Amino acid sequence: MSNQEEAQFSTTTIWDNPLRNPSDKRLPRIAGPCGMVIFGVTGDLARKKLLPAIYDLANRGLLPAGFPLVGYGRRDWSKSDFEEYVLTAVKAGARTEFRENVWLRLAEGMHFVKGNFDDDAAFDSLAATLTELDESQGAAGNWAFYLSVPPDFFSDVCHQLQRSGMATAPEHAWRRVIVEKPFGHNQETAHQLNNLINSVFPEKSVFRIDHYLGKETVQNIMALRFANQLFDPLWNSHYIDHVQITMAEDIGLGGRAGYYDGIGAARDVIQNHLIQLLALIAMEEPIDFTPAELQAEKIKVLRATSPVKPFAKTTARGQYAAGWQGSEYVKGLREEEGFDPDSATETYAACTLEINSRRWAGVPFYLRTGKRLGRRVTEIALVFKDAPHQPFSEGSRHAQGQNVVVIRVQPDEGMLMRFGSKVPGSGMEVRDVNMDFSYTEAFTEESPEAYERLILDALLDEASLFPTNEEVELSWKILDPVLEYWANHGRPDEYPAGTWGPESADRMLARFGRTWRRP
Ligand code: BG6
Repeated sequence: MSNQEEAQFSTTTIWDNPLRNPSDKRLPRIAGPCGMVIFGVTGDLARKKLLPAIYDLANRGLLPAGFPLVGYGRRDWSKSDFEEYVLTAVKAGARTEFRENVWLRLAEGMHFVKGNFDDDAAFDSLAATLTELDESQGAAGNWAFYLSVPPDFFSDVCHQLQRSGMATAPEHAWRRVIVEKPFGHNQETAHQLNNLINSVFPEKSVFRIDHYLGKETVQNIMALRFANQLFDPLWNSHYIDHVQITMAEDIGLGGRAGYYDGIGAARDVIQNHLIQLLALIAMEEPIDFTPAELQAEKIKVLRATSPVKPFAKTTARGQYAAGWQGSEYVKGLREEEGFDPDSATETYAACTLEINSRRWAGVPFYLRTGKRLGRRVTEIALVFKDAPHQPFSEGSRHAQGQNVVVIRVQPDEGMLMRFGSKVPGSGMEVRDVNMDFSYTEAFTEESPEAYERLILDALLDEASLFPTNEEVELSWKILDPVLEYWANHGRPDEYPAGTWGPESADRMLARFGRTWRRP
């Protein structure tokens, strides 16, 4: 099969973009002539996610034939050293099979430029390399700069891209910047960071990665809500008692102290992933899925969202101590290498948010996340109010709880509905049952990995799945009061590894007569 035929073949099912205008839905999503520079290419993220995703895109025929990939870093690497490094990363992390011809074609366009982030000469040499690659690989002046570096270096990199002229595209070409979190430490620093980036790249050329938005099941929230008639009438405070958004992980933080200590669970994932999930669950229907319309609806709901007080009762935080994670006895955070033994960084965070809108007034949104919890699961549970009247005797409903709709983001991607049903027999006994939809059973198509999806979207200038500067700052505005309260009120509670978090988190819900779901 030719490259183009392969692309047509693999794009029609896997790569239709549900966020595109329906009129152009059947167009294959193949990036036009372009290239990418990765700053921080030797880091974990590039090695584990970005490089394998780029290979997978090439393997699916979704990148232009001569796609140039340039690594920039401090190592003294030749082109072949860089190729070898990428090859190891690809072999370890790619999801599609290894094909020599695809690899060789990709390797041809690979280059490595050595330098620091404030090195004029090295950036001039990078600029010369891009010009050369425009000619030899046909990138046509279209370049994406991937900043996979800590935000402390953003300023140097942006300044150098501007100084060397790389930030400005020649006529009929484009320049884009793709930025990784953390986007600041609070609203103020996020604002400064946005100003810095926007002083070099206009907002329409900035693609902020929140890899949760690249997940199939997260995009399915929109399909579920807006493609069906079934749910919307119930999706409001008349019927919903509360919402629980859970992101539980079983992994610990060994090896990640440099990034995590002083950041903590709330900044690491609530500010971005979980608040984005809340926005998708709670927003009104956008007019269409163009970036402007979708982002406008998310911004509206974020502006109406705030944390519920008093924080002593409506929030909880914890730090994992040693314990049994399945059959393995694991260390506590403060024994992990690189963590300060007095570290007050939370590895578990829970908070209560409210949305002041007609649809959601009075419905608490409970968000929780943690490391070293019972198991890895991310889900959104909409818990319904009890039916106003039940013509059953008390005893006949002892095994019935509240109705629940659960959107399972991962693993076992799918959806579950829990409701009461009559137990077979001569009496009228009601018991809860589950109705389950599973992606793997319903579809044979494979879901693209989040980074594949997002990198391709950035190259195609499709910005719907990237949070804007305003969304990022609003998310911090929601979380900042809680973080400030925690900073001034003691330490996180301890919880043994392998459990479901600190007891204070259970008390937080028990005060309102509710309990966390055990997913
Ligand atoms: C990242 C966080 O954004 O998401 C990590 O920094 C976390 O701490 C990771 O482990 C989880 O991602 P996923 O896709 O495995 O749920």
